[in-house]
Amino acid sequence: MNKLKTPYYLIDEAAILKNMKKIEHIYLETDVRFVLALKCFSVWQVFDLMKKYMNGTTSSSLFEAKLGYEKFGKDTQIFSTAYSDRDIAELKKIADKVIFNSVAQFEKYREVLRSDSAKKGISLGIRINPHISNSPFDLADPARKYSRLGVSSIKELTPLVGRVDGAMFHYNCENESFESFSKSLDFISDKYGKFLQKVRWVSLGGGISWSKDGYPIKKFCDKLKAFGEKFCVGVYLEPGEAAIAGAGELVCSVLDIVKNVKKTAIVDASVEPHMLDMLIYRQNAKINEPAGQHEYIIGGRSCLAGDVFGTYKLKRELSVGSVVRFADAAGYTMVKKNWFNGLQMPSIVIKRLNGKVEVVREYDYKDFINS
Ligand SMILES: Cc1ncc(COP(=O)(O)O)c(C=O)c1O
Repeated sequence: MNKLKTPYYLIDEAAILKNMKKIEHIYLETDVRFVLALKCFSVWQVFDLMKKYMNGTTSSSLFEAKLGYEKFGKDTQIFSTAYSDRDIAELKKIADKVIFNSVAQFEKYREVLRSDSAKKGISLGIRINPHISNSPFDLADPARKYSRLGVSSIKELTPLVGRVDGAMFHYNCENESFESFSKSLDFISDKYGKFLQKVRWVSLGGGISWSKDGYPIKKFCDKLKAFGEKFCVGVYLEPGEAAIAGAGELVCSVLDIVKNVKKTAIVDASVEPHMLDMLIYRQNAKINEPAGQHEYIIGGRSCLAGDVFGTYKLKRELSVGSVVRFADAAGYTMVKKNWFNGLQMPSIVIKRLNGKVEVVREYDYKDFINS
């Protein structure tokens, strides 16, 4: 590992397996099926491991759906905020479940998706905005004011009864509280009960931190099972983050240390192109090492003044060449990487279950030009 050139994203299959084992347990207890949210994580080189435990993928676009279909297989689901004719022309050949954001789009495309030229047995669903959510961020709150995500009026659903196969509610974001998840599900059950009795499946979206140590899995299972039985529906969860939590690091090296009152270690990666969510959500990247007395700001090497991973108190002193590892670098990180400043793109490295370390992707100048 020491011979690897930084920067690189490191994916640890053993950490993924830990989450997959939880999925297996929940599935066996409840019959709830899990589809991987590709918007969060699409490193297809580890899909062989994940597809043993997960039922398929869910996508946000035609390209993600194609990726899921080609590299993961099984159940290929998609929810798009708005489909185009071009999307539907391709999706009808590969999708198993197509979830619409509006009644108008459902009416526009339902016939073609159920025609003889479409894949057999495509199931159609509708996303519903339940007007409640558990999200610490307004930006990621699907029930935020004037949200465009999901059918917002219950009246609009009436003409769909008996015509759609499924319903989708995505109302959590990084929600670690079982109690709030459970309370919201009760609310949804009461408010949409009549509609839910007439569908065959319900997806409860993503954003639930069921893979965190200490999450009450038994209560979670009981709740999901009771919900499925109450409405006689197949239940789906669409985890992104929870499926790959703890599995990714961004590994970089210190290139320089500068001082302006405080010391800043400048590393060979950058927040904006390589860990964009930290900027968007104004968070510090987590660092994987013991805390101590040596304080550093760790900054990226882009031209952006605010290109800062965070301020840390470390046990060791940093010097040029020190390797720094940022945690939680798999979800919503690798999918958002970009070529800002033309910086060297981190390679993708996978630590396999058998301990073998594989560099699956390296980037060079040609990739920059081609982008
Ligand atoms: C509809 C839908 N499903 C699933 C997810 C995955 O969420 P997470 O990665 O937080 O589990 C998202 C995230 O935005 C989403 O919008």
